[in-house]
Amino acid sequence: MRICRLMHTECEDSVLQEAGELLRNGKLVVFPTETVYGLGANALDTIAIKKIFEAKGRPSDNPLIAHIDGLAMLDMLVADIGNVERKLMNAFWPGPLTIIFDKLNKVPPALTGGTNKIAIRMPSNVIAKKLIAYANVPIAAPSANKSGKPSGTVINDIYDELKNDVVLFLDAGRSQIGVESTVVKVENGVPIVLRPGGITPDNIADVIGCVKLDKSIFDKIDANAPVLSPGMKYRHYAPDCDCVLVDGNSNESKASKVVNIIKQHNPDKIVVICTNENVKIYLQHPNVEVLSMGDACNFKEVSQNLYSLLRNAETFNPKLVIMESVRKEGLGLALMNRMIRACGYNVVDSSEH
Ligand code: TXA
Ligand code: MG
Repeated sequence: MRICRLMHTECEDSVLQEAGELLRNGKLVVFPTETVYGLGANALDTIAIKKIFEAKGRPSDNPLIAHIDGLAMLDMLVADIGNVERKLMNAFWPGPLTIIFDKLNKVPPALTGGTNKIAIRMPSNVIAKKLIAYANVPIAAPSANKSGKPSGTVINDIYDELKNDVVLFLDAGRSQIGVESTVVKVENGVPIVLRPGGITPDNIADVIGCVKLDKSIFDKIDANAPVLSPGMKYRHYAPDCDCVLVDGNSNESKASKVVNIIKQHNPDKIVVICTNENVKIYLQHPNVEVLSMGDACNFKEVSQNLYSLLRNAETFNPKLVIMESVRKEGLGLALMNRMIRACGYNVVDSSEH
């Protein structure tokens, strides 16, 4: 396998052409998108799709997103497009919105987890767009990471876990958004957000006039219950140790709860993932490593850092990772969804005594 750094290469097009050919010929390529890195394969090639599931250790009932570079490719995958879907496409493509459609028969069932629905997105990242155009086939791409681990937002974080299966890594630095796309399914004319992401529910409501959030976003769902998005069934984004999320209305209440938990665990090693405000308070405790996601008011900074920090936390071999919540507004909805799931729904409310 090879890593190719694309930031300042003059030969970018020749590299992308080669990567496109590799993809078309059934190989796996890791590539940047504006959300997170994707583990790409030819979406029309069942054998290539199966390589993705093997490389990730992903359950076969969890379908993949097909990435397209334009509307001509959409016609290769779906039969008809509803009015609401068309409005969403016009408003948010290219960009971090994945839309669920009815698939054409020729789309491999391995891509869609055996269902007749297909998830499609048109990324805005220039490298991703060019790569798909060179491949000249839709690209199936889950986030580039082993199943259950935090998604890859820098190549360094994921190289070791994927190097045996991937022939080429296209490295374009840190992902711009840092959390995955919003996944939307339209039912009876109403867009339902199955996974919050770069496009917020408010963004969608502004265009369509209404939006709903699927209840699996914040609530644990029964393993046997029917789900709209199979990915919501599995533990995700999680470091390899116990995690707890401390929620609350004020910084002060969160800080005092976190300190309480730290004291209960002393002298065990603890990692705290928080925003800048309370860093100094936690640093006073010798058994604690503090990782800051950035400024609490700057969701963009927080989302760019979150997954790398979840991975970094593991390297301290802690007994426990404590995360501070962020506001559940705008991009904060996506951040809280990922943090709650990283903690396996282990959430304590610091405003309760
Ligand atoms: O930003 C992203 O979406 C990234 C980049 C690489 O594009 N991709 C990504 O893929 O996050 P993945 O496989 O990690 O997540 C896809 C999500 C899963 O929750 C899956 O269950 C859901 O989309 N999904 C895919 N196909 C679906 C379908 N036919 N019906 C319902 N949900 C679907
Ligand atoms: Mg993923």
